[in-house]
Amino acid sequence: MSSLVIDNIGLLVTNQPSRGEGPLDIVRDAALVFEDGMVTAVEPAGAAGDERFDAGGRCVIPGFVDSHTHLVFAGDRADEFAARMAGRPYEAGGIRVTTEATRTATSSELTALTRVRHAEAIRAGITHLEIKSGYGLDLAAEERCCAVARGFTDDVTFLGAHVVPSEYEDRPDAYVDLVCGEMLTACAPLSRWIDVFCEKGAFDADQSRAVLLAGRAAGLGLRVHGNQLGPGPGVRLAVELGAASVDHCTYLEDADIEALASGDTVATFLPAADFSTRQPYPNARRVIDAGASYAIATNCNPGSSYTTSMSFSIALAVREMHMTIEEALLAATLGGARALRRGDLGRLSPGSRADAVLLDAPSYTHLVYRPGVPLVAATWIEGIPRWSTEPTVWA
Ligand code: NIG
Repeated sequence: MSSLVIDNIGLLVTNQPSRGEGPLDIVRDAALVFEDGMVTAVEPAGAAGDERFDAGGRCVIPGFVDSHTHLVFAGDRADEFAARMAGRPYEAGGIRVTTEATRTATSSELTALTRVRHAEAIRAGITHLEIKSGYGLDLAAEERCCAVARGFTDDVTFLGAHVVPSEYEDRPDAYVDLVCGEMLTACAPLSRWIDVFCEKGAFDADQSRAVLLAGRAAGLGLRVHGNQLGPGPGVRLAVELGAASVDHCTYLEDADIEALASGDTVATFLPAADFSTRQPYPNARRVIDAGASYAIATNCNPGSSYTTSMSFSIALAVREMHMTIEEALLAATLGGARALRRGDLGRLSPGSRADAVLLDAPSYTHLVYRPGVPLVAATWIEGIPRWSTEPTVWA
């Protein structure tokens, strides 16, 4: 197998404890060696290899690990967004608008739409992502969405319990039975995770518990959407059941923070959703200082957060959520990997997947210092260049 050396890296973020300096374990003037899709060595600049790419003294970071996306959907809700910017509040019910469009789309239409969004994510430096179903909300459409998602990632999440579809409006418990029964049977073989939107207007604590326990019995790991639109039971339920992650965490009470600190459920913040729904930003500082695990994800979806920009999410986390720049970058890389229970992602050290991003900048600080500027100059996934602005990457 031939090796690729990314040489002449001015500042390399490894995220490998005790490898380098500071919380990101930085190595300066480094070379990164890839072989067979994996990182095999971190060396001083000038290391030998079969192929060489010159990073020109710029910064290389681990690829972003986006642990919360809803990439499989059809339709557009720009009008809803515009109305919100004019003062209308965000409501969980908007999901049904996307469900109507998604149900009528074929598998190949959904695959084509997802491919465009996936390519956009790679250009933004995302090298691994989780994808949820949740806009089908009937057996055939949920199964179709999970199958489409499976073509893009091994971290597929079955989210039949996203919201109660209109045909079950008066019988929400019958819908929960469907999710926990036939729908789960169809979707579990395509999925690694189950998720539930535990929120007023979606599913209450008992319904959420039923969904999560059914998913666990079917062999799936647990994830929860919780505390997005107001305080509620989502975070505590997630910790009690040992979910890998509880996502949103916008409205946290003291008991939620204590619960997060006492368990190993990752608190995943989705600041772009708070931006797009005009919610207040959570105070991540309190969660971090309490000792809880944390992550940042984009939550790319057509309703509450139509962005694949992890850089934007990082900038919001620093500016609005009281994270340091280093904490935010860790949250978007190693944090995302932890939220997906993936030991092979989120760092650049021997044994990790060769997922790296070259920034057109001398330091990762530019991700926040230069908001809105596309700084990703190259993205490698499993050692293969998947995007670059630089012709020599492809040579
Ligand atoms: O994570 N909160 C629930 N689900 C999505 C929003 C979906 C939508 O509005 O379409 C989220 O924000």
